[in-house]
Amino acid sequence: MHGVNLDQIGRRDPHHYGGVTFDQLEQRITEFARELDLQARFFQSNHEGEFVERMHRLPGMVDAILINAGAWTHYSWAIRDALEFTGLPAVEIHLSDVMKREPWRHVSVFEGLCLETISGRGPDGYRDALVRIKEELA
Ligand code: DQA
Repeated sequence: MHGVNLDQIGRRDPHHYGGVTFDQLEQRITEFARELDLQARFFQSNHEGEFVERMHRLPGMVDAILINAGAWTHYSWAIRDALEFTGLPAVEIHLSDVMKREPWRHVSVFEGLCLETISGRGPDGYRDALVRIKEELA
């Protein structure tokens, strides 16, 4: 689940997000999943309500959630509630190292809800997240 502004990563600050485009990121995640015998499905939105409504439909559709909610991570209690509502195992992920950035990025509404938070490992972090999910589902 890719949140707000994630669709623009190839055009955002490469210092934080690297040079990878959104399409390339999804390709990498698809490959990581295949290597682990998992199947990835994707959703991205810049509209919070749309994102929440997709979350409502996830139970029964997927086994686990990998969520990079972008800036919503830091303030959207609605998205936290929606994630909790799914009851699904989830890993929170960020391309950049949010703890080494501005203080407002150190706060996550998902605290205590996810199996793990992976931050600052770029696209490879998604592989680590999938490994964690695979362990959980085993
Ligand atoms: C991000 C980090 C957030 O603080 C930021 O608002 C983003 C991307 C990341 O992947 O590093 O949009 O989630």
